[in-house]
Amino acid sequence: MNPIPYGRQDIRPDDLQAVLASLQSDYLTQGPKIAEFETAFAQYIGAPYAVAVANGTAALHLSVLALGLNPGDYVVTSPLTFAASGNCALYAGAHVLFAETDAYGSIRPDAVQALFDQYGSKIKGIIPVDFAGRPADLPALKKIANAYGAWMLEDACHAPGAQRSGDSKFRCGDGSLADAAIFSFHPVKHIACGEGGMITTSNPEVHQRLLVLRTHGITRDQHRFTNPASLADSSLSDSDPYPLWYMEMQELGYNYRLTDMQAALGLSQLNRAEENLIRRKEIARFYHAALSGVGDLQLPHADSPSETEDHAWHLYVVRTQKRKALYDYLREHHIFAQVHYFPLHLMPHYRTSFGYGPGLCPQAERFYSECLSIPMYPSLSQEQLSYVVDAIRAFFDQTPTNS
Ligand SMILES: Cc1ncc(COP(=O)(O)O)c(C=O)c1O
Repeated sequence: MNPIPYGRQDIRPDDLQAVLASLQSDYLTQGPKIAEFETAFAQYIGAPYAVAVANGTAALHLSVLALGLNPGDYVVTSPLTFAASGNCALYAGAHVLFAETDAYGSIRPDAVQALFDQYGSKIKGIIPVDFAGRPADLPALKKIANAYGAWMLEDACHAPGAQRSGDSKFRCGDGSLADAAIFSFHPVKHIACGEGGMITTSNPEVHQRLLVLRTHGITRDQHRFTNPASLADSSLSDSDPYPLWYMEMQELGYNYRLTDMQAALGLSQLNRAEENLIRRKEIARFYHAALSGVGDLQLPHADSPSETEDHAWHLYVVRTQKRKALYDYLREHHIFAQVHYFPLHLMPHYRTSFGYGPGLCPQAERFYSECLSIPMYPSLSQEQLSYVVDAIRAFFDQTPTNS
């Protein structure tokens, strides 16, 4: 059996054609594919606006700036996430607080509330993560954010196409609860652009600010210019329109642009987003059925069919007391599982910057010590899936639970 990674991009002939056509076009960066990708992605997610950027980290950074994070402010995020969910606040000179997580790795609203009780309106924003593709409890978090005038930035990197049904319905990133949401197009994510990211929002001012910040803080919109026309060319009077070459840098921005080639790939991948999401759900159902009752494995929501359907299944995270031994056993059998995540508050940079240490978020730390992400991606064949399941069963057969 060839090596089976925990996640993998799905590139097909259509994708190759799309990139080739883009390379043969007049534009390599900021051409028509960017706007096409933004429009199609906004439609897929159900958000009014989308802004394409260089990667998910840039999406987080620009979003906190557009939402108004300043040096000395505080934000709350999850300890069970990729470093970028906290780092974006550090880029802006802010402090990062970590809220305790629930059994599935999402921040608990009561833990977020406790941080607001302590820090009050010093906290300017909450950055919940839709961990593994399961929507965070945005309705409860939104109530807390509203009570303190804080914004909410949803890190939906794992969750394109995820939703919550029932009374408090929403679709991840749709702008109905969070002020902005971000996505990544890193190869292991649902849509792969190599590198790439997207910000969605329903707020037109945030949208405008993101467009300007994405490209150096420069605007080409005459209606927004603040310099007199005569400064742009001394032969012009202030009543003349500005010369066509003129643009203004009005604040400090960045070059966080996506290229047209990447947008072409993203658009082509987006065409299969729904089909791939259906396949991820099939795989999750297969794992639920094949692994329930095996050893001491705790499966993600095996007992909740509606959550299985609403989940985007970026990761399939099992929990076991024998995580390290299972990881090693799978590796010996060419199955490359992964751990998501080492708690962010225990990373050396956060420990030295904020004095955090073990015991800050005991449930998240316990989650880390037990979690393992087993292979989950649409192109897994039935033969590969059976091989993974057989290997996990064989491991537990030879390793009694109480050993
Ligand atoms: C939860 C989460 N947030 C942010 C990021 C950052 O995205 P990128 O790698 O595109 O910068 C990732 C990607 O690894 C992620 O998984």
